[in-house]
Amino acid sequence: MSQPVELHGRLFHPFISDTQITERTNELATELNEVVGLETPIALGVLNGAILFHSDLIRAFSFDVEVAYLRTRSYSGMKSSGKVDIEWPDDLSVTGRHVLLVEDIVDSGRTLVALTKELHERGAARVTSVVLLDKPAARVVPFKPDFMGFEIPNAFVIGYGLDFDGLGRNLSSIYQVVE
Ligand code: IMP
Repeated sequence: MSQPVELHGRLFHPFISDTQITERTNELATELNEVVGLETPIALGVLNGAILFHSDLIRAFSFDVEVAYLRTRSYSGMKSSGKVDIEWPDDLSVTGRHVLLVEDIVDSGRTLVALTKELHERGAARVTSVVLLDKPAARVVPFKPDFMGFEIPNAFVIGYGLDFDGLGRNLSSIYQVVE
């Protein structure tokens, strides 16, 4: 973790350690354990970025949970394209359900705004957003996550699910680009 990493010729320095991520994820799960109650929610992970956060978070829940995933696309390299494509799985129904929408990061806000709207249109009874990282200074459309791990500055980050053109998702810590 103490060493910088290089991906596609760009340098990234250590930013949030795996220990910090684990501690904060467990705290978030404890907070969620208190708000979920008796209903069985669906923990809906947003692929690919939320893979590690989603799997660590659900393991720390003390309530019964169903698990589902969908894929969105909006990023190319270090830039958001401004358009969000949602691939809705054929076998996913959210009608009348409490959906825990689990995402790696909220940046422009477009992905979570689009997903929240889609979930309500498809009849979700309640949508609770849980994000590991929040970059409020990058917001283009207003969005405030219900649960948030770390508030970070507006700089590109990789690791723990987050990628730079396909690389870096498997790193257990988070790294920030060196400008
Ligand atoms: P938003 O729609 O702009 O809020 O962006 C959400 C998606 O953009 C996230 O799910 C990530 O996949 C991607 N993203 C935003 N910021 C970063 C970053 O700093 N590193 C890697 N991916 C990012």
